Amino acid sequence: MIKLKSMNEINKMRKAGEILARCHKEIEKMIRPGITTHEIDQFVEEFLAEHGATPEQKGYKGYRYATCASINDEICHGFPRKQPLQNGDIVTIDMVVNLNGWLADSAWSYPVGDISDETKKLLEVTKKALYLGIREARVGNRIGDIGHAIQTYAEGEGFSVVRDFVGHGIGQYMHEDPQIPHYGVKGKGLRLKEGMVLTIEPMINVGDFRSRLDDNGWTARTVDGSLSAQYEHTIAITKEGPLILTTLEEQPL
Ligand code: MF3
Ligand code: CO
Repeated sequence: MIKLKSMNEINKMRKAGEILARCHKEIEKMIRPGITTHEIDQFVEEFLAEHGATPEQKGYKGYRYATCASINDEICHGFPRKQPLQNGDIVTIDMVVNLNGWLADSAWSYPVGDISDETKKLLEVTKKALYLGIREARVGNRIGDIGHAIQTYAEGEGFSVVRDFVGHGIGQYMHEDPQIPHYGVKGKGLRLKEGMVLTIEPMINVGDFRSRLDDNGWTARTVDGSLSAQYEHTIAITKEGPLILTTLEEQPL
C-alpha cells in the first residue's frame, strides 16, 4: 500500500532531511586518510542527538549502527569499523534520520585523499545518475522512467547498475511501498502521483552488477571485487516537480 503524504507531512520530512544534509556536510569535512568509519558513526550519533533527532537504522532488524559505511567494493550495508580509511579509498555513508517520527534517508560516497581518475569518474557518473533519475520523478511519469534514465546513462558510461537493492517509499517507516529499481523500461511500471515520497539511491559498479552477501548477513559487495559507489536522496513528488528533501542546496530541477 502506498501512503501519499500531505504538504504538511512532507515539510516534517524535509526538516529531518535538512538535519541529514547538514550531517553529510560535516562528514565531508572529516573524511581523510586515517579516520575510521567508527569515529564517523559516533559523530553522527552525537550530531543527531544535538539536533533532537535519532538514527533510525540503529536497531532496525537488529542492525547495530547509526550509519552504514561501505568501503570500495562494498555496495551497501557495510558496518562502521575501527580500521582507518586509506588514501585512494571511497566510502559510502548512508543514514536514516528520524525527527519527531518522520524520516529522511540519504547516502553519499566520499573520496578519501587522492583517488584515481577512474574512481573519480565512477563518483561523478553515480551522482549524475541520481539526478537524472530524480528528474523523471514527476506526476504522470512511471517508475520505469526513473530506472531507465539511470540505467541507460550509467551503462552508456561503461558501468553497471546493482539489481539486488532498490529505492523505496519512505515516511513514518523506513521502507514503504513502492520499490524503485535503478534499472527499467521507459513507460513501464506504476504511475507516479503527487504526495509520493521516495528514495532514489543508485548503486553503480565499475565491473559486473552482481552482488554477494558477507557472512555477517548484511554487507553486500561486488562479486568481481570492482568498486561500487552510491548517492541517495529522499524526494517528494509535487505538482511542481520533484522536491529533494535531503539537500540544503537550491533545487537543481
Ligand atoms: N538506508 C538504507 C536504505 O536505503 C537502509 C539500510 S538498512 C539498515 O534503505 F539496517 F541499516 F537500516
Ligand atoms: Co534508502
